[in-house]
Amino acid sequence: MPSLTLQALTAFVAAWVVYRVYLRYAQNAALAVVPGPKSNSWLLGDLKAMFATNGWEYHKQLMKDYGAVFKFSGLLKAPHLYVYDPKALSQILSKEQGVYEKTEDFLVMNGLIFGNSLPASHGDEHRKQKKMIGPVFSPAHMREILPTCFRVAYTLRDSIKQQVLRGQSEVDLSAWMSRVSLELIGQGGFGYSLDPLTENAPEHPFTTSIKNLARSATDPLMVLPRMYLLPPLSKIGSPRFRRFLLDIVPWPKLHAIRDMVDVMDQTAKEILGQAQKSLDADDEVLKARIGSGKDILSILLRTNMLASEEEKLPQSDLLGQIGSITFAGMDTTSNGLSRTLHLLSEHPEVQAKLRAELQEARKQRNGDDPEFETLMTLPYLDAVCKETLRLYAPVPFLLRRVCTDMIMPLHTPIQTAFDPKQQLNEIFVPEGTTIIMSLIGCNRNKDVWGEDAEEWKPERWLEPVKESVVGAKVPGVYSHLMTFLGGGRACVGVKFAQLQIKVVLSTLVENFTFAPGSKEIIWQLNGVIQPTTKDAGFTSTGHRKLQLPLKLSCIEAED
Ligand code: HEM
Ligand SMILES: *[C@@H]1O[C@H](CO)[C@@H](O)[C@H](O)[C@H]1NC(C)=O
Repeated sequence: MPSLTLQALTAFVAAWVVYRVYLRYAQNAALAVVPGPKSNSWLLGDLKAMFATNGWEYHKQLMKDYGAVFKFSGLLKAPHLYVYDPKALSQILSKEQGVYEKTEDFLVMNGLIFGNSLPASHGDEHRKQKKMIGPVFSPAHMREILPTCFRVAYTLRDSIKQQVLRGQSEVDLSAWMSRVSLELIGQGGFGYSLDPLTENAPEHPFTTSIKNLARSATDPLMVLPRMYLLPPLSKIGSPRFRRFLLDIVPWPKLHAIRDMVDVMDQTAKEILGQAQKSLDADDEVLKARIGSGKDILSILLRTNMLASEEEKLPQSDLLGQIGSITFAGMDTTSNGLSRTLHLLSEHPEVQAKLRAELQEARKQRNGDDPEFETLMTLPYLDAVCKETLRLYAPVPFLLRRVCTDMIMPLHTPIQTAFDPKQQLNEIFVPEGTTIIMSLIGCNRNKDVWGEDAEEWKPERWLEPVKESVVGAKVPGVYSHLMTFLGGGRACVGVKFAQLQIKVVLSTLVENFTFAPGSKEIIWQLNGVIQPTTKDAGFTSTGHRKLQLPLKLSCIEAED
């Protein structure tokens, strides 16, 4: 009897392996017509070269060699398509969004880390959450949190000023940008302070956890178990039983992640509890709250309370948004800010022109901060932000998986792999193919932006948008750019991110001049693109410390 079971099992496993091999062969045969580089290794394919922290040059070379759609190999020859053709992206993100989903392991991981939330859900569940959360970030609500944001920016400015006046010639702006982004989400987003923004203040455990989590999630030793073990394991037994399993597995790295998640969960509960309490409170209590109850979370709770039964989000879904919004907004905004300051330090003429615009706006208001509408429409400030977020989109690329065979249409035809004279206007994409959407690739596409697409030129935004840009119908939610994605999964924080960037940038540029420091800045291709220097040490998680040392001088106010 046992041998019969064993035989059946062996036969089953063998059949499964044969089926997988056949499937992979069929997928690769179907994509044979699409050009792409020869795979470097049968085990890892091209993944190592593409996702290396210094992999950007390789991406550039491939985009130059093959254009807006090309094929490359993943693990064990799994077929991947690299895509930045605008028409193809439009299909992926809007027209056929349901066919191109985030991978299951990713959704499951987000669910375990944050709980029910936007990055952990899909389909109808995701649509329901988005419908409730999207409108909370409207311009009208952004206007209300502007004073809170300016106050946070002033605290930052004063702390940096102290550092400069003490004679510190170079300031690490990467650390400050990450702290100020976090505090803007804390105060503007949740009415809760996460960082006092004073020099040497100890880090909030919530911050430490979120930062380390971002690094652990992309740890190569974690990626394989996450892809293959997490989805099935997450379905075994009850949450309590799974927690028991987690606690007894002798795996320190996993336990470290468990502890980070616990810290985040506790903090999220505290943040939500405070916001909820002040909802029922009288005016005095509300006024004592940071931002007087005008933060995003308070608005969300009020909207949710008034919503119909089928639109209302349960408590668990509200809680999950706190960690995930912080996670989604922190590194993206801070590295966008860091990049802008780095570019301004290298382009003194742009810096001077921007400063002049800001000073003029303040003069118009007799020395007061600009109003929301003015700040958001100052043409040169807007041009500098847009051009930076175009050329250096903080999130360089994102993954999707095709769940049924698809015909993918193209804006620009590609040459076939067999005959350069033969062109394809569409591609057959077999089920199971992994798609890498290159957001930076689309933002730098010469067919869309013209021959100078690779240059940083804020001035291009002072002219009417080009015919070729309008004609490309890029599916992005922000100025024909893919930076904040588009379609059903577009960034909900796009308006908040712009507000944060403009408030911090305008405050700093008015009070300091920025010049290059003595060290070369290296931008690493991580999940988000991040700055460091050659001699930066390593963190406890084994990652290079982030660094952006620039030379700052104070500008004394003229009266
Ligand atoms: C420069 C700053 C930012 C950039 C470049 C950016 C970019 C993006 C991108 C590319 C996505 C799609 C991710 C995916 O599909 O996997 C996304 C989603 C998201 N972003 Fe942002 N983001 C920024 C700032 C923010 C801020 C400030 C917040 C909130 C405070 C935020 C909240 C979110 C959320 C909640 C999602 C998930 C949306 C969903 O799944 O439907 N982001 N963001
Ligand atoms: C920053 O710059 C503004 C505008 O010039 C000025 O009013 C303000 O006094 C400056 N603040 C500090 C702390 O230098």
